[in-house]
Amino acid sequence: MLALQKHRAPLQWLGRQLFNRDDGVAFFDPLLERINPMWVQEYTPARVQRIIRDTADTRTFVLKPARRWQGFAAGQHVNICVEIDGVRHQRTFSLSSSTTLWHEQGLVTLTIKRLPGGRVTNWLHDQLKAGAVVGLSEAFGDFLLPEPIRPILFIAGGSGITPILSQLKTMAVQGFRAPVTLLYFVRDHDHAIAGEHLENLAASHDLLSVKVITTQGSSEPRYLTDADLGAITDLRSRDVYLCGPQGLMTLAGELLDARGVEREKIHSTYFAAPQTDLCSQDLGGKVRFARSNLDVDSTGDAPLLEIAEAAGLTPQHGCRMGICHQCSCRKTSGTVVNRLTGQASGPGEDTIQLCISIPQGPVALDI
Ligand code: FES
Repeated sequence: MLALQKHRAPLQWLGRQLFNRDDGVAFFDPLLERINPMWVQEYTPARVQRIIRDTADTRTFVLKPARRWQGFAAGQHVNICVEIDGVRHQRTFSLSSSTTLWHEQGLVTLTIKRLPGGRVTNWLHDQLKAGAVVGLSEAFGDFLLPEPIRPILFIAGGSGITPILSQLKTMAVQGFRAPVTLLYFVRDHDHAIAGEHLENLAASHDLLSVKVITTQGSSEPRYLTDADLGAITDLRSRDVYLCGPQGLMTLAGELLDARGVEREKIHSTYFAAPQTDLCSQDLGGKVRFARSNLDVDSTGDAPLLEIAEAAGLTPQHGCRMGICHQCSCRKTSGTVVNRLTGQASGPGEDTIQLCISIPQGPVALDI
């Protein structure tokens, strides 16, 4: 690896001369991958050190990224890139380990739930083995802890616990400096990811309280109630961090609002793209992909990323849910509606995210 680092600049220069691209060195990846997959340049290779079974449908993958990876802040996400049957796939997952594990041992973990029918998550669970190499993007996302740490209420549902796990583990190493409460909603105790670890953390830190609430057996899913919030000391002085299914997030937002928690104190992240009810809006329209000299008619609430892909284009993207900004591109004219907020853009030039932008009338893009 050191040898490669030493020759990276000349390789970059040669790549630029040959391919006229800043990342021209990535053109040598097929060769480097054969010599040593940890030398690949297009993404940061990360070797799977260990795979730990968390629950029947969740595994934690312990990864050792190559040393050029730049690290992360607790609560951030990464894209991982894997090749399945000769086709590369990229998916976004939250890091679940403490930042200390990275700083001290050069390791990170991803805790991944198997999704029914999910091509990549099923492959990761069934095919990925210790010793294999996957590609890792740099970390991204702004679901970050306040600095200095203030009192916090975490509300998590299902696998939405993963970024919060990273935050709690990081705080546990650094020492809790303010009261922290976690309300964690799971189907039943067998589906509580890191349930025992969370209980142990709470047992050894006086300022941390953890409540695992099961939803199974209720006639309606029992997510969050006003009584849960009423039991939190000094609720309005706390920063609130939400991650879970859309139903829980929406309910939490409404209940917190009713209890007078300021919007600026509420931080949320998603593990699937949330949907705003856009039925009443007049969506769809002709999309012009100017650089590709292509015009496509779209109807309904398909986002521009899907419209482009259906037309045979391959725009850069990562998470497909509005987090990573890898799909950002320039809209030169036309109106788009943001799928997350329901807000319409102005009609002129703008930078938009393809994966969450739905055309409302004719739109022209610089791709
Ligand atoms: S693909 Fe991540 S924001 Fe669009």
